Amino acid sequence: MFVFYASRVIEYIIWGLNYMRFKFKNILKQMSFNTFIPFFYPIMMLPLKGWRRKAIAMLDFRAGDRVIIPGVGSGYDLPHIPHGVSVDGVDISAVMLAIAKNKIRHNPQSITLHIMDAENLDFPPNTFDKAILDLFITCVHDPEKAFSEIVRVLKPNGEILIYDHLIRVPKWTAPFISGLDFVMKYNFCTVIRVFDDVIKDQPVTVVKEIRGDPFGFIKGFLLRKTA
Ligand SMILES: C[S@@+](CC[C@H](N)C(=O)[O-])C[C@H]1O[C@@H](n2cnc3c(N)ncnc32)[C@H](O)[C@@H]1O
Repeated sequence: MFVFYASRVIEYIIWGLNYMRFKFKNILKQMSFNTFIPFFYPIMMLPLKGWRRKAIAMLDFRAGDRVIIPGVGSGYDLPHIPHGVSVDGVDISAVMLAIAKNKIRHNPQSITLHIMDAENLDFPPNTFDKAILDLFITCVHDPEKAFSEIVRVLKPNGEILIYDHLIRVPKWTAPFISGLDFVMKYNFCTVIRVFDDVIKDQPVTVVKEIRGDPFGFIKGFLLRKTA
């Protein structure tokens, strides 16, 4: 009896510590995405509309596919998903998800939105056929952890689309970039993250790469899970 209660108490303590860890590292980000970012986000997204569509078109959608969109935000990817495909969108911002929900209210597709930390996805392994990571890897606190979770829930041969500003910066800009990054990464998104560093330990191969904006700052990468 004692062992049973003691193990339950330890379980609750671990759960509480994990919850506090999540809250602590994401608290400013959640505040920003739940308050002012939704107001100016549409303006930032306007010039990327056609480029995003082209990137998503690299995915070979099939009827019956199940797609996960971590950091789905206010749902800019959703209009580009063909009918017959079901979507699970995950985000830590209730306000961004509420905007996405409003966008899809007349949508006949099966789209489910979850408040969930993409670094700890509450889905079993090998669940999804595709994952769409648009402007997410530069936003999530621990991109390697989130990416490994996404690979875990993806089926073998599953496709991953990354559309983001994941480029290496010249060394001479490093002090400026790291200063700016320190301010940005807790409140909004990091300024820059290196694509190779995020994917290096995962069983994925890069199938295709395209330009994602007129300046080549954003890129679209199509990857496939190998194992
Ligand atoms: C820059 S927005 C991109 C939204 C959308 N994918 C798009 O392309 O417009 C990044 C989103 O990631 C979400 N996010 C950040 N950290 C997250 C985490 N740990 N788990 C789930 N979502 C997260 C933010 O709340 C925000 O909505």
